[in-house]
Amino acid sequence: MRSEDAKLVMLVDDSGTNLMAGKAALSENYKVLTAGSAAIMLETLEWSKPELILLDVDMPEMNGFKAIKILKGRPETRDIPVIFLTAMNDGISELEGLELGAVDYVAKPFSPPLLLKRIELHLLLEDQKHVLEAQKNELQHYNDNLQGMVVEKTKTILKLQNKLLTAMAEMIEGRDGVTGNHIANTRRYLGILLNAVIKSGLWADEIEGWDVELLCQSCQLHDIGKIAISDSILKKPGKLTDEEFAAMQQHVVLGVHFIENLDDGEDDSAFLHYAKIFAGYHHEKWDGTGYPYKLSGENIPFLGRLMAIADVYDALTAERPYKKAFTHDEAVRIILDGRGKHFDPALVDLFAKNTDMFRGIEK
Ligand SMILES: [Fe+2]
Ligand SMILES: [Fe+2]
Repeated sequence: MRSEDAKLVMLVDDSGTNLMAGKAALSENYKVLTAGSAAIMLETLEWSKPELILLDVDMPEMNGFKAIKILKGRPETRDIPVIFLTAMNDGISELEGLELGAVDYVAKPFSPPLLLKRIELHLLLEDQKHVLEAQKNELQHYNDNLQGMVVEKTKTILKLQNKLLTAMAEMIEGRDGVTGNHIANTRRYLGILLNAVIKSGLWADEIEGWDVELLCQSCQLHDIGKIAISDSILKKPGKLTDEEFAAMQQHVVLGVHFIENLDDGEDDSAFLHYAKIFAGYHHEKWDGTGYPYKLSGENIPFLGRLMAIADVYDALTAERPYKKAFTHDEAVRIILDGRGKHFDPALVDLFAKNTDMFRGIEK
């Protein structure tokens, strides 16, 4: 006896005798819809969706091949498995039928138990396909969630890293006795310059792989070496003697040394790589008179040349125990004067185009 939840199978054949024989063979196990032509099948599919179609090949008007092309071309019927039914002497190519998307080929006259077995097998395969599809979707959903979680975690770690860096930089600044948020300001100035470099379209080689946020974070370590400079020099209210200045200059190599110690070489840390460049080259000058390596021109790493402008602009516009704060316009003039001497001429030109953004930064 057929169960209530038996699956719906559609039988399409232009011969009434075949339809009756087929229906008799299938009705024990399946609910059966019959159609006497491909046109009737298509019409019936408007309101009913069988789980499998048994499709005669040789029919007048529209044969099975034409009909399957239509079925496979419509999103709502494309997934219904089709088994071709064909008389042995149809002389049609089995391969052609399968290539058109049929799942199987059954020769007429068919043996009812064999046909039932084939149908059962294909419906089982279809069920498996749905289970796999559902599992795939579930896995995709899980993956998406996992990816979201990793992104969130990474954001949290970066936030924490940023907070630690800021705290560290503030500690150094606190020792320095210098107020005015040098680290926070230079970070913002560098951000303006980095974005201007990207927008300019020049320096395409330099900006490859840049992560502006990461660069801005790592530049906060540029003066980390100051932690090892003695208070008497750092906090000296007046101008430094030559000897003291030489000791102060040590903050660069000390900084590089600290950052190298942080890098255990285990993971390729872009953050530490950038930090080392900022710390090591922000006091070099284009004409070779800077420190500590006395590099000149393009021998100075690009990020070091960029940091020099951010660093000096803030030093100029900030008040120090030994000097007043220059105004924005005065600081711009001094940097423009340093074009090709202290600073990379092309980067000074870029700075000149973006000075208004510097003016807007609150001290
Ligand atoms: Fe410095
Ligand atoms: Fe600095």
